[in-house]
Amino acid sequence: MRIDVAFTPAAMTQARVHGRAVFVIDILRATTTMCAALNHGAKAVIPVSSTEEALRLAQTIGSADVLLAGERNCTRIPGFHLGNSPLEMSEAAVRGKTIILTTTNGTDALLACHAAATVIPTAAANLSVAAVRGREAVEAEQSVLIVCAGRNGDFALDDAYCAGRLVAAIFGSAKPRRELNDAGLASLDLVRRYGDRWERPLRYSRSGRELVRLGFRSDVGDAARLDAYPVLGQFHERRVTLAPVPFAATRA
Ligand code: MLT
Repeated sequence: MRIDVAFTPAAMTQARVHGRAVFVIDILRATTTMCAALNHGAKAVIPVSSTEEALRLAQTIGSADVLLAGERNCTRIPGFHLGNSPLEMSEAAVRGKTIILTTTNGTDALLACHAAATVIPTAAANLSVAAVRGREAVEAEQSVLIVCAGRNGDFALDDAYCAGRLVAAIFGSAKPRRELNDAGLASLDLVRRYGDRWERPLRYSRSGRELVRLGFRSDVGDAARLDAYPVLGQFHERRVTLAPVPFAATRA
C-alpha cells in the first residue's frame, strides 16, 4: 500500500495509474468548478482537451441540455455558455445539464489519469468526502495517487498544499512517513507551513495572483472554502458523474 503525490501530471502512464485510486487536484479552479457543478445538480461534466473538441462533442450530443464551459488565460472562451468559475455553476444554470468543460491544465490532468481504477476530482470543496474515499482505498490495500494539475507543466503551490491536506486527512493521526513518496512529504511540509488557512497558499500561488489580477478574487475565496461542495465525483467513461458517497461519510 502506498500513497504517492505527483506535483504535475507529466509521466502519467497507464502503468503508473493502473489499479490505483487517483485524486486529481486543480483547486484553482477546474476541480472546484466540477464540484460546484455536481453539487448544484449538473448531470455530468465531460472534460475535453480543446475548444474544437468541445464544439464537436456538443454537436454530436446535439441536446439543448448541453452547456459549453471553460477558459483560456482564465477567461471564458468566446461563444461558450460558462467560464471556469465555481460561482457560475449555480443551480439555476446547471441543474440537469451536461457540461462540456475545457481548461488550461485541470481537464488535461484528469484525462491523463483515465486508465486508473478510480479517478476523483478533488479540491478543498470536497476534501472531507475525498479523504473518506482515500481511507477506504488504504484500508482495502489499494494504492493511492494524488495528482496535481500544476501550472503549465510546473509545480503549483495551491495544488500542492491541497495535496498535503488530502494526505493529512487520509492518514489522520497515523504516522504516514514510510508509505509516502518525497512529493508527499513535501506536501505535508506545506501544510505545516500554512496550517489550516487555505486562503494563504491559494492567494500566494501564481494562479491565485493571476486570478485576482484578472478580477476573479471571489473565485479564489470560494475555492478556499473547505467542504463547500461536499460531493464525490468520479471520472469514468469520459465523464464525471456523482459517485456514491463513501459509507463512512454517511455515518459521520
Ligand atoms: C486550469 O485548468 O489551468 C485552471 O482551471 C485555470 C483557471 O482557473 O482558469
